[in-house]
Amino acid sequence: MLTAYDHPIAQILDEAGVDIVLVGDSLGNVILGLPDTRGVTMADMLHHTKAAGQGVKRALLAADMPFRSLSAANARKLVRAGAEAVKVEGTKELGQIKKIIAAGIPVMGHLGYLPQTSVKPSVVKSEALIEEARALERAGVFAIVLEMVEPRLAEKITNALEIPTIGIGSGPACDGQVLVTYDLLGLSAWSPRFVRPKLRLRETSLKAVKEYLAENR
Ligand code: KIV
Repeated sequence: MLTAYDHPIAQILDEAGVDIVLVGDSLGNVILGLPDTRGVTMADMLHHTKAAGQGVKRALLAADMPFRSLSAANARKLVRAGAEAVKVEGTKELGQIKKIIAAGIPVMGHLGYLPQTSVKPSVVKSEALIEEARALERAGVFAIVLEMVEPRLAEKITNALEIPTIGIGSGPACDGQVLVTYDLLGLSAWSPRFVRPKLRLRETSLKAVKEYLAENR
């Protein structure tokens, strides 16, 4: 799984064969220049889900439910904008998650470091996560993102579940992996330590723009 917030990146991911394109609320930091994901609104998610959806023909398009937006009505709005599944952080509102699933909308869970509610990124080691993951599976989610979960714990969770886990900074034992595409391409000014960028697009872009300026001034 990789993230996209617009048509061209979604198109590249789809063409490359990515299984799931995620319109993550990481768009707050990555695209909108916000300090965290809490300022991302439903309007932002709908706008970017529509844009990314235009580029996806084959992959599953999933969209994040932003901070304080959890309801079946909002999940339906994301589906109308093009999402085929929604992702929800944490287990605090399991009742709402069940309602969204009952409305026929597939839900992906998200455990470990939760950017919408945690103060700052840190590795999660609490074994209580195993029970939370089981509760999400019982509720009917189809996959669970494990963000910054201690790798042996991520392995235990993966082994305890029938549904797939998708890790980010959680070691190699998860069933799948996810990254923010801007981090993968080296386009972000900052990226987490676990990211190994495949390109240095920020540096290359800076160089290209400087060359253009020098040629044309
Ligand atoms: O918002 C996001 O991009 C995410 C991924 C990092 C999993 O939740």
